Amino acid sequence: MAELSRRSLIVGSVVATAGALIPLARSLTSAETLPDGPPLPELPELDLSTPAGKPGTTTAVLTAGSAENGRLAYNGTGPGPGPLLRLREGDRIRLTFRNDLDAPSSLHLHGVPMPPATDAPLTHLAPGDSDVREFTLPPGSAGTYWYHPHAHGDVERQLLAGLAGPVVVTGPLDDQPALRDADDRLLMFTRTGREITVNGATRPVITARSGRTRLRLLNATAGDHLLLALTREDKRTTAHLIATDSGLLQRPVPLIEILLAPGERAELLVETTTPGRLTLRSLPYSVYGAGGQRTPDRPMAGIDIPADLSPLELPTSLLPVEKIDLSTAVRTRRLVLDGAGDGSYTIDGRTFAHDRVDLRATQGTLEIWEVENTHTMDHPFHLHSYAVQVLARDGKAEPFRAWRDTVNIPAGTTVRLAVPFRGDGGRTVYHCHIAAHEDLGMMGILEVAEADARPGEVPASDR
Ligand code: CU
Ligand code: CU
Ligand code: CU
Repeated sequence: MAELSRRSLIVGSVVATAGALIPLARSLTSAETLPDGPPLPELPELDLSTPAGKPGTTTAVLTAGSAENGRLAYNGTGPGPGPLLRLREGDRIRLTFRNDLDAPSSLHLHGVPMPPATDAPLTHLAPGDSDVREFTLPPGSAGTYWYHPHAHGDVERQLLAGLAGPVVVTGPLDDQPALRDADDRLLMFTRTGREITVNGATRPVITARSGRTRLRLLNATAGDHLLLALTREDKRTTAHLIATDSGLLQRPVPLIEILLAPGERAELLVETTTPGRLTLRSLPYSVYGAGGQRTPDRPMAGIDIPADLSPLELPTSLLPVEKIDLSTAVRTRRLVLDGAGDGSYTIDGRTFAHDRVDLRATQGTLEIWEVENTHTMDHPFHLHSYAVQVLARDGKAEPFRAWRDTVNIPAGTTVRLAVPFRGDGGRTVYHCHIAAHEDLGMMGILEVAEADARPGEVPASDR
């Protein structure tokens, strides 16, 4: 059980038991009897406008500033996440970010496809400064993303104070009846105090409006791994995974639990036709490997299912996910995540330096990255601008293909990734998405050279 729980998805045992109710291994704690919270808050949407002189471009403004009780907020929202940025594939967006904090900050649109120069993750904006990024959402980019500060050294404090907001991109595939008619709910997990909240509320309740509910799960905590499962009367129920970080899968994948590391997203379709109560729970999980201190079992949200909701078919096919031809890889690299014992965290034995390029690659090439975690705890590995596919976890082939931007690397394991450098080159970063670890050095700089800068050459490595 413990060993299985270390995997990101319990898929092997799931295919055989799809549709079944699996008893929880442990009897439930008194957490089950905690009182319900309010109805799930719907997050306010960010105002979008189309300026007269710029047809086809949508503009929006996000301002980071202080809020009540010492908290920070985007556009004064809260308590709870910043406004929802709702976009559509093909949209061209001109997004202004203004820093009204009394400390440097920056805006990062986590996972939203954009070139390194537009993402500009090394930018620190001084108090009172603003910047503008303009980008177009490519076909196939529909999915669940988020935005948050990226000012190295101060990310954890700003996240914990309330600076994070969701991004939902829709596309033509969302118009098929199996998705269009589902009850689409965004659940954004954040933690500002002792409790992890959902859209700013403790144990909120959803009343299902359709025979299938689409849960967009977004772990925007600064450092809490969430092993999530749906239960009905103490037994786990099967849900279908339809999307990971970087969008839709080829077809729904049945599962009974899913580990969402800090920064990660997943979308589930849940059958909501049998009247009663489903509970979304965070199950015990240890980031310190088997035998380590585990988080408590706790209910995160309830789903009340009224009678008479009509069944809705599962979609049979979603978005083709390319099978990458690994024979074209130009190199295999090993990256080592570790902790230095003095409170700093390292990648390849060193902490982050603003002016040092750690890895060099070339636009248009494919690399294999073996990310090894030699530390005593899990680290979620995040790469900007270039989506990756997991090939294997500790030698075990990944059971299905998916594009991702954040991949948990459990303590003592190695995860093998395919990393194609598509789109523009430029200077970007990779790091642990436990914000404190990133702040304390677990980040590196990747420079992807434009392909025509060095025609025909295999890129030189600095390692
Ligand atoms: Cu992020
Ligand atoms: Cu970490
Ligand atoms: Cu980042």
